[in-house]
Amino acid sequence: MPISIIEFETIDSTNTYGLKHFDELEDKTVITALEQTKGRGRFDRVWVSGRFENIYMSFILKPSKLTRIANLTQYLCAAAAKVIETYGVSTQIKYPNDVLVDGKKICGILCESKLKTNAIQGVVLGIGVNLNTPQEVIDSIDRPATSLNLATGKHIDRYLFLNKLVEEFFSNYEKAIHEGFSAFEEDYLKRTEFLGKKIFIQQRDNSQKDECTALRLDKNGNLIVKTLSGKEKTILSGDLIL
Ligand code: BTN
Repeated sequence: MPISIIEFETIDSTNTYGLKHFDELEDKTVITALEQTKGRGRFDRVWVSGRFENIYMSFILKPSKLTRIANLTQYLCAAAAKVIETYGVSTQIKYPNDVLVDGKKICGILCESKLKTNAIQGVVLGIGVNLNTPQEVIDSIDRPATSLNLATGKHIDRYLFLNKLVEEFFSNYEKAIHEGFSAFEEDYLKRTEFLGKKIFIQQRDNSQKDECTALRLDKNGNLIVKTLSGKEKTILSGDLIL
């Protein structure tokens, strides 16, 4: 379980705070906020972070075995999907770490490494889950998005969700750190619907969209695709367009 949960009313970003104060924060500290003024997503995108009783949270993690860090985002993604499903909705995972409901994004994860003279000291693993975002705010997001209140027709208790997520995350955390992808492969794979399908990979500059077929995940959780020229390729970065 976490060492402590630190909650802010307003903060720029729980990830930014975690990186800035990394040295003084203990391993397994959880930082949360009711709202973020500069919520950040992957590829320098903005993460809509108003005071909507949503989850804006970052785990400060300093595991001694750092080789499997790449899988922590996928592990948190599967944990979040499981918790969302306890509200009676089904989820899909979009590689590497978005959770979707009805094909629309409900949860995103941003993992940032803390480096000291090129060595990784640990990570700040941030997660945002739309629990009670109003419809008009969802409509203003430039990509398909949803919120758990809209999917269930009910207001979601933020503290209950937060506690469930923290508990779920730490229930198998040590195993995920030591064993990597195989520790949670089944939970992850059963929610992926893109395997076998035609997809596009877009790099961070939003320029090129490369068409390919999603084949499988390898034993480390990396996506293997078949390119248009018939070659197999491992996708280590980029965004999937389904
Ligand atoms: C993405 O899908 O692009 C990742 C979104 C991550 C959002 C969370 S909210 C808590 C933490 N603080 C941030 O500024 N970002 C992450």
